Amino acid sequence: MARFLVTGGCGFIGTNLIEYLLERIDERIMVLDNFSEGKKEYLKGIDNYSDERISLIKGDVRKKEDVKAAMENCEYVIHLAAQTDVMDSIKKPKEDADINIMGTINLLNESVDRNVKRFVFASSAAPLGEQKMPIHENKVPRPLAPYGASKLAGEGYCSAYAGSFGLKSVALRFSNVYGPKSWHKGSVVAKFIKQIIEGETPKIFGDGDQTRDFIHTKDISQALYLSCTEKLDKDFELFQIATGEETTINDLYSMLKKKLEDKGLDVPKVNHIEERDGEIYRNYADISKAKRELDYNPEVTLDEGLDDIIDWFLNDYL
Ligand SMILES: NC(=O)c1ccc[n+]([C@@H]2O[C@H](COP(=O)([O-])OP(=O)(O)OC[C@H]3O[C@@H](n4cnc5c(N)ncnc54)[C@H](O)[C@@H]3O)[C@@H](O)[C@H]2O)c1
Repeated sequence: MARFLVTGGCGFIGTNLIEYLLERIDERIMVLDNFSEGKKEYLKGIDNYSDERISLIKGDVRKKEDVKAAMENCEYVIHLAAQTDVMDSIKKPKEDADINIMGTINLLNESVDRNVKRFVFASSAAPLGEQKMPIHENKVPRPLAPYGASKLAGEGYCSAYAGSFGLKSVALRFSNVYGPKSWHKGSVVAKFIKQIIEGETPKIFGDGDQTRDFIHTKDISQALYLSCTEKLDKDFELFQIATGEETTINDLYSMLKKKLEDKGLDVPKVNHIEERDGEIYRNYADISKAKRELDYNPEVTLDEGLDDIIDWFLNDYL
C-alpha cells in the first residue's frame, strides 16, 4: 500500500502533522528521525498514535542507507527534518549545510529512484532576509544567516530535481509556527508561555512593536497535506504559508497575559531590553498564491490558537 514518509516526524511540526494526517488518510506513515531534537515519546504521545499505522525508523537524513530504508513503498515525502536553529547555523554553517542541503539531496535522489508522486519541502521565510513587507514568492531572496541559505538551497534543489528528473516537488515557506507539542522550541509564543508558567519575567527585545505572522500547526498541517494532494500545473511550486495577519510582539504578550491571568496564573509585566542586532522589524506574508493554487485557507485565528497552545501547556506539558 502507498505510504507517506514524514522526515523529522518526532519533532514539533512533525507530531502535529502526523496527528492531522491520521485523521485524513488510510495509508501507512513512515517516520525517519534521528532524535536530535524530537523524541520517540513525543510521537507515541499523540492522541491517535497507532503501531499499525506508523513505522518509526531511527536514522539520519545524511545517511543514504537510512533514507533508503525509510522510503520503501513511499509515494509522498514530506521533508521536515532539519537543523532549525539560526544561531547554531552561524556557529556551525557546514553542519547546517550537511543536514539541510546534503540530507535533502539524499531524499530527492531516493524519491526520483522510487518515482515518488510528490516531494514536499519545509522551507522558511529565512531565505528572504530583510524585505519590504509583505513578503511573497516573487521577492528576491537575500538570506542573512546560513540557515536561510541552506533552506534556499533546498528549494533550489527541489526545483532542479523537477527540471532535471521530472520529480513533482513543492517548497513551503512557513512563517512563525506555534501550537501544541512545542516542548523544546525557543520560538516566542512557546517561550513566553513556558517562562510565565515557571515564574520568570519574559523579555521583549526593543520597543515590542516589531511584528510577526503567527501560524498555528493545524494550518501548517493543512498546507502540507494539500501540497501532496492538490493538482498543480508546474512540476515545482513555491508557496508562502502564513496567515497574512501582522501582530506586534506587544499585542501577543497582552493576549497571552489576559488568557493566562484568566486561568489564575500570575503574569509579570514584560521586561523590555535592548533590541537585537539584525532582527527583522516587520514580518508578514501575502498568501494569495497559496490560496489560489493550493486551495489553502488558514482557519485558526490567533485568539483560538493561543487558547489551544495554552491548554496544551497547562494540561499536557506540565
Ligand atoms: N517551527 C517553525 O516556526 C518553523 C518555521 C519555518 C520553517 N520550519 C521548518 O519546519 C521543519 C520542522 O521544524 P520544527 O519546528 O518541527 O523543528 P523540530 O526541531 O521540532 O523538528 C525537526 C525534527 O527533525 C529531526 N532531525 C534533525 N536533524 C535530523 C537528521 N539529520 N536526520 C533525521 N532527523 C533529523 C529532529 O530530531 C526533530 O525531530 C524544519 O525543516 C524547519 O526548518 C519551522
